[in-house]
Amino acid sequence: MITSPEVERYLSEVNPPADPLILEMERSGRERGFPIIGPQVGQLCEILARSIGAKRIYEMGSGFGYSTWWFSRVVGPDGQVVHSDGSQALSDEARDWLTRAELANRVRFEVGDARQLIAAEQGPFDLIFCDIDKEGYPEALELARPRLRSGGLLIVDNTIWSGRVAQPNPDATTAAILEFNRQAAAAPDLLTTILPLRDGVSVSYKL
Ligand SMILES: C[S@@+](CC[C@H](N)C(=O)[O-])C[C@H]1O[C@@H](n2cnc3c(N)ncnc32)[C@H](O)[C@@H]1O
Repeated sequence: MITSPEVERYLSEVNPPADPLILEMERSGRERGFPIIGPQVGQLCEILARSIGAKRIYEMGSGFGYSTWWFSRVVGPDGQVVHSDGSQALSDEARDWLTRAELANRVRFEVGDARQLIAAEQGPFDLIFCDIDKEGYPEALELARPRLRSGGLLIVDNTIWSGRVAQPNPDATTAAILEFNRQAAAAPDLLTTILPLRDGVSVSYKL
């Protein structure tokens, strides 16, 4: 988190999600300390996806399906979200949650390294979301760029990394995020900004 605890509390109270299932997913994540994007970033993802009429979304690092819930609401019954994760158990769990939400029929579940999985996809996607292990971010950027349609969005979580991107002597994980942020800013086909929401969310528009 990069905002103060008071601001975080205010943000979580002013506009909480109302859906009982997403609240249950948040509780489940909290109870086992599983890192999810949380409601503010979830709402941001839904708004951004709706604003471009996204129908084809690729998620890299989907966990137990919390972020997938936000995206799969947007695409409609004729759209598709690809849920990808290295863990079969998390993929199975995500299918259970999304079945309960009556959204599983618009989700394709892929298990493996999301970088290899997306490399096998042609795209183009309207939106690509990345939340894998941070060392993989620079490679994920190179894989995502050619698979985004013009006017599409790349959304990447944790790009401020609790403020560590602004500290001296970055460790290997922080160095990878710094490299991702540098490359995204320099990419001639992307317009990028980093929103200081939660742990930092990078949003890139494909020109
Ligand atoms: C931060 S959690 C994702 C949370 C999810 N996006 C959400 O907000 O609900 C990261 C997930 O990515 C998966 N993961 C990490 N590196 C990966 C990789 N290279 N390929 C596929 N999955 C990966 C982990 O198994 C974990 O479930």
